[in-house]
Amino acid sequence: MCGIVGYVGRAQAAPILLDGLRRLEYRGYDSAGIAVVDGGRLETRKCAGRIAALTQLMRKQPVSGSLGVSHTRWATHGKVTDQNAHPHFDASGKLALVHNGVIENYQALKDELIRSGDTNFRSETDTEVLAHLIGKLYDESCASTVDIPEKKARLLAAVRAALRQVIGTYGITLVHADIPDFMIGARRGSPLVLGVGDGENFLASDVSAIVAYTRDAVYLNDFDVVAAGRDKFEITSLAGDSTEHPVSKVEFTAEDIGKGDYPHYMLKEIFEQPNTVRDAMRGRLDPDECTAKLGGLNMTPPELRDVGRIVLTGCGTALHAGRVGEYLIERLANFPTDVEYASEFRHRNTPMTPETLVFAISQSGETADTLGALRESRRKGFRTLGICNNVASTIARESDGGVYMHAGPEIGVAATKSFTSQLAILTLLGLLFGRMRNLSATDGSRVIGALEALPGQIEAVLELSDQIKEIAKKYVDANGMLFFGRQFNFPVALEGALKMKEITYLFAEGHPSAELKHGVIALVRPDLPSVFIAPDDSVFSKNLNNIEQVKARKGPVIAVTSGNGPKHLKGIANEIIVLPEAPEYVMPILAVVPLQLLAYHLAVELCRDVDKPRNLAKSVTVE
Ligand code: AGP
Ligand code: GLU
Repeated sequence: MCGIVGYVGRAQAAPILLDGLRRLEYRGYDSAGIAVVDGGRLETRKCAGRIAALTQLMRKQPVSGSLGVSHTRWATHGKVTDQNAHPHFDASGKLALVHNGVIENYQALKDELIRSGDTNFRSETDTEVLAHLIGKLYDESCASTVDIPEKKARLLAAVRAALRQVIGTYGITLVHADIPDFMIGARRGSPLVLGVGDGENFLASDVSAIVAYTRDAVYLNDFDVVAAGRDKFEITSLAGDSTEHPVSKVEFTAEDIGKGDYPHYMLKEIFEQPNTVRDAMRGRLDPDECTAKLGGLNMTPPELRDVGRIVLTGCGTALHAGRVGEYLIERLANFPTDVEYASEFRHRNTPMTPETLVFAISQSGETADTLGALRESRRKGFRTLGICNNVASTIARESDGGVYMHAGPEIGVAATKSFTSQLAILTLLGLLFGRMRNLSATDGSRVIGALEALPGQIEAVLELSDQIKEIAKKYVDANGMLFFGRQFNFPVALEGALKMKEITYLFAEGHPSAELKHGVIALVRPDLPSVFIAPDDSVFSKNLNNIEQVKARKGPVIAVTSGNGPKHLKGIANEIIVLPEAPEYVMPILAVVPLQLLAYHLAVELCRDVDKPRNLAKSVTVE
């Protein structure tokens, strides 16, 4: 959640920090701030609002210095105000700290600080308490006469001692006005990466903030504390022991995270789907054996054969992908598959059998609830695999293996291409497990054929963008939207509704089509269109019945169909969007695309901030 960027080097820190914040803004964007150390003084600028507001402020009141920290906030504790924006300071005002996460015991720590005479709190945040605690421990241990190396050691010791008292999650970066060319970072539950440069070092909550400056990165683990100067860095544990970390090469470049010629990241990412779905399958199809090859699972064929049940877990869009996965694996491999909200799974005592295999699905690989589920599952001894896009993420690193999406950075807050990549991977899993059980070579070969056809078919669906834009214009005054689908397309209805509410702020709900008559039908009225995902498949006639039921109550219908669907829907549905023909189990990959486009075009018509919808953040690293 939200973003941290820190810099120590020889260049001016402020432009680098601002540039980094801009690249992270999609992660959280309610306020922003920066603090730079300049000749023994801290210069701070911070304000509520977007990075653009901070940039403007800094244009009027520039700062100079080559050591600094910065932050873009997604508030958890304390309103969105200038005062609550990070950085926060200790009581002396010399230590500046930025923080992602939540200090759960902040009130107890604050009470204790107040009891000891510290009343100089200026914000309502949990973060400020941590800044005060570190500052207090440092000031108690450090007389002004000690030399700089000793100050560094004592600040480091104060950070460790403070963090040992913290309950909650944090990614932090801090600097002290008295200590030049020195910054400290630490993490627990919130990501932090060190960018290793030439005569400069960076800290960031996401590597995309710093990839324009260096592609050498060290991904920190929970309980790591890093001390970085211009030319060196050292990583230790909370207890103070040195720990070794490899320096990795970042896979993508700064260009990869640009918008290209598209007006929004979301549209760019929707249009990338022919390629990203292809990339999710690249090298993973085995036409000779009519199966899939997924070496990253790190499981031998006997181990794979022993799997008797699968649990798919995730949040939001990733959970919806899991719901399609449930149908897929049951259809292709015919064994029990359950889907669990990650946030529920970790707090439930779900009965699990020894042969259960758990998959944590997450684009970012940093979602706190999904990470919690993964840890809970591993704690109980279950093999737990990840389906992630971010290869350097915590979920990718902490799982026993998994499958990467290779979709490239997804910046739009509304997930699009990661969903279709997840579906492609879940189909590969269904194929793999199916071929180990009851799926014939002929059927396996059909699945491969259907998968190989997808990139071209998605291209064809994307050509409908203009038609969908016209539909969006027509329904710009709608008071919400309902989404319906059956079987494989029921989760697509959920996903269509999620996209719609996230970026248009319209009320939207997804339901199994048949549930309509069990209650939802009470909502049907002329200003509430119903979107039916009704391809020409085994349940088409049932969907048609439900469409008639909506029609009979004067509800407008937007039908997403295929094959002979238009023939039956003519004169009933108000709008008909025609998909290419494909087997039921891959249809969600095609059917979701018009729904992404519908939400997108409607959001643009309504002048919404498509890439940064209100109240949301790209990666939710708090519970
Ligand atoms: C999707 O549009 C949402 N922004 C959100 O539901 C997201 O899918 C969810 O937070 C999970 O994120 P993850 O895939 O990075 O774990
Ligand atoms: N809990 C802190 C706050 O509310 C940090 C939130 C964040 O991760 O941006 O300021």
